[in-house]
Amino acid sequence: MGKRKGLAVIWMLCISMVLCSGCRRERKGQEIESIRIGVTVYDQYDTFVSQLMESFKIYARKKTGETGIAINIDVYNASASQSTQNAQVEEMLENGCDVICVNLVDRTDPTTIIDMAENDNVPVIFFNRELVAEDLERWNQLYYVGAKAFESGIMEGEIAADAFKKDPAADKNGDGIFQYMILEGEAGHQDSIVRTEYSVSTITDNGIEVEKLGYAIANWNRAQAQTKTAQMLNEYGEKIELILANNDDMALGAIDALKAAEIDPQDWPVIVGIDGTDVGLEAVKNGEMAGTVYNDKEGQARGMLDLAYALATEGDTSVLNLEDGKYIRLPYQKILSEDVYRYLK
Ligand code: GAL
Repeated sequence: MGKRKGLAVIWMLCISMVLCSGCRRERKGQEIESIRIGVTVYDQYDTFVSQLMESFKIYARKKTGETGIAINIDVYNASASQSTQNAQVEEMLENGCDVICVNLVDRTDPTTIIDMAENDNVPVIFFNRELVAEDLERWNQLYYVGAKAFESGIMEGEIAADAFKKDPAADKNGDGIFQYMILEGEAGHQDSIVRTEYSVSTITDNGIEVEKLGYAIANWNRAQAQTKTAQMLNEYGEKIELILANNDDMALGAIDALKAAEIDPQDWPVIVGIDGTDVGLEAVKNGEMAGTVYNDKEGQARGMLDLAYALATEGDTSVLNLEDGKYIRLPYQKILSEDVYRYLK
């Protein structure tokens, strides 16, 4: 290469380095004044999801305080309709959201959302309602934030097994077998499936024989759980020694049914929930529930916010330690009455 040609190449390299570092700096957080995050929840009346969203907004305000970047959050309620949710995502994309967070209505049906987002090159963070791994592999800008579902079932089973071992009164008929009924969340939801399976298998793994009296799907919902429990109380009455609920709201529905039936609290079955929502914690505190399992809404909200922020500002996601480059999964924690004060606000 001649001397002149060599100089020209170096000159070109210098210009492109300046340009590149210029655009990189521009994309990095500091020079962006605001970002817009669109969120759609499957049902805004779901207790756990609504508390998770409250935490999300709190962390967003904190992040704005730390970074000086305004974080605008548009929250939509899909009201349990996948087609409504798809239309909401379309609107968020039209409105220029930098990232979209989706609490899927139907976790088996993310295709329309993935296609629209990929088309507009806007990353999607799915949360709480986990899509199958193959769907998350369909584009490299898809993420999931949630919890380690099987842990919650194991912990719920441990709480129930300990209650049976520690308190002879839990075995009301004294036959050495734990007669139970179970209240399940939505059919097909990863948490319903896994919690139902692991809670029961953990009790038997702890050496306690169980007998299933009945089960009911109450869709995470307190009122539905009350109705279903009332039916089972009519059928099995005193025989029920344990009520396992896939979440706290359904455990509280079961308590509502026991109260409505005017059953003396001394004769109540052992009741265990999952989530550690405010109302759930209150029921553990006052002894109505033997315990619950903390579904770390703060951790999930913070993980989702940090990830959304990183993606929107084209920051570095490597500091977030994503599992397989795509997942944030928070651990659960057991809460008994002696621990409840650490969790109450
Ligand atoms: C679960 C939670 C339930 C319900 C459900 C909604 O993780 O324990 O209470 O909120 O998510 O998808």
